[in-house]
Amino acid sequence: MNNPLRIAVLASGRGSNLAALLVARDCGDLPVEFVLVASDKAAAGALQLAQAAGVPTLALDPRHYPDRRAFDIDLFARLAASGAELLVLAGFMRIIDSDALTPWIGRMINIHPSLLPKYRGLHTHRRALEAGDSEHGASVHYVTAELDGGPVIAQVRLAVESGEDEHRLAQRLLPLEHRLLTAVVAGIAGGRIALDTDRVQFNGEALAQPLQLIDGRLVKNH
Ligand code: GAR
Repeated sequence: MNNPLRIAVLASGRGSNLAALLVARDCGDLPVEFVLVASDKAAAGALQLAQAAGVPTLALDPRHYPDRRAFDIDLFARLAASGAELLVLAGFMRIIDSDALTPWIGRMINIHPSLLPKYRGLHTHRRALEAGDSEHGASVHYVTAELDGGPVIAQVRLAVESGEDEHRLAQRLLPLEHRLLTAVVAGIAGGRIALDTDRVQFNGEALAQPLQLIDGRLVKNH
């Protein structure tokens, strides 16, 4: 059996995606070791979840740094020092300096609540509803310097219900996000998913389309 993949999770908020990863690890479905949970918000629920699970935590306040770049350089130096092999952005609500993130390209993923390339940035549920989309979803992608723009690994889709508001749509999507992120981290930890230059590889083959999460499993989209 290979050593578990050492991961660090970055989160700014409640941490439900982190919680899903912890549960999967505890159930034996996710061969990872959590080496650090880091946040830009000392009050983030994610930090409390990590502490309760016995995972080391780090809270850095951006207001204590002269600029974004100084904050990111310090944060990413500490992430490197943690020994993490993969960084998982799970609700980390900051744009990251490109010099800080470049060494991590191929080793840092983000979950975003839209079917990328649709709706990069904020208010994704509202924008999908305003556009009259019949389906919505979430994506996990490798992080590059382009905001929400790196190669998409996998997506999960759900049908928009008539008359629903953005809160309900977000609420229905969230459990699917948890499964998507867990499945992708498991795929990376198991060596099935990797980045080769700018193409996502799945079982050694370059993907033409993002994987789809169907019935809890990642499948190729033909
Ligand atoms: C999730 O919905 C995630 O997709 C989103 O933040 C939420 C975090 O929830 N991420 C982004 O919007 C990134 N641009 P959580 O703290 O409960 O995991």
